[in-house]
Amino acid sequence: MNKPIIGILMGSDSDLKVMSEAAKVLEEFGVAFEITVCSAHRTPDRAHKYALTAASRGLKVIIASAGGAAHLAGSLAANTTLPIIGVPINWKLEGLDALLSTMQMPPGVPVATVGIDGAKNAGLLAVQILATSDKKLANKLTSYKKQMAAGVNAKAKKLKKEGYKKYLKNI
Ligand code: RP5
Repeated sequence: MNKPIIGILMGSDSDLKVMSEAAKVLEEFGVAFEITVCSAHRTPDRAHKYALTAASRGLKVIIASAGGAAHLAGSLAANTTLPIIGVPINWKLEGLDALLSTMQMPPGVPVATVGIDGAKNAGLLAVQILATSDKKLANKLTSYKKQMAAGVNAKAKKLKKEGYKKYLKNI
C-alpha cells in the first residue's frame, strides 16, 4: 500500500458503518488512505497531535466524522491548513445536531461539510480535491460522472418504456 494521502478520522468506531462508504470510494479511485478512531472530546491530545502532524506526514485532505456535539472536524481545522471535510453522523436528533456543529464554523476556520451520513460524498470530494493536481484522477472522475449519467439515462429510458406501474414493481 502506498503512503496514505487521505486521513479518515471517526469520533467513534460506531461511525464506521457509515464511514466505510468513504473508504470504498477511495479504494475505487486507488487513493491511499488511513482510517482511525480519534475523538475531539475523549482523546483531545491525540486529535490535536494528529492535526498538527498531518501535513508533514504527507496527508493532503482529512475526512472527519462525528455525531452529536460533533467537534472533531472543527478541532482538526483549528490546527492544520489542510482541507477538512466533515461528515455529520446521524446519532441523535436525526443528525441535525451534528450537522450544525460540524458546519457552523467561525469565519477563518472552514470545514467543508457534507450531508448527514454523507460519507460517500466526502470520499468523492476528497478525490476531487486531489484531482486538481492529478490528471489521472481527474480522468477517472470524468469517467465516473459519465457512468453515473449513463445509469440515470438508462433508468429514464426504462421508465418511459415500461410506464411507472410496471417500473414500480421492480424497485
Ligand atoms: C460521537 O459520538 C461519535 O462520533 C459518535 O457518532 C457518537 C457516539 O459515540 P459512541 O458512544 O458510539 O462511541 O463523538
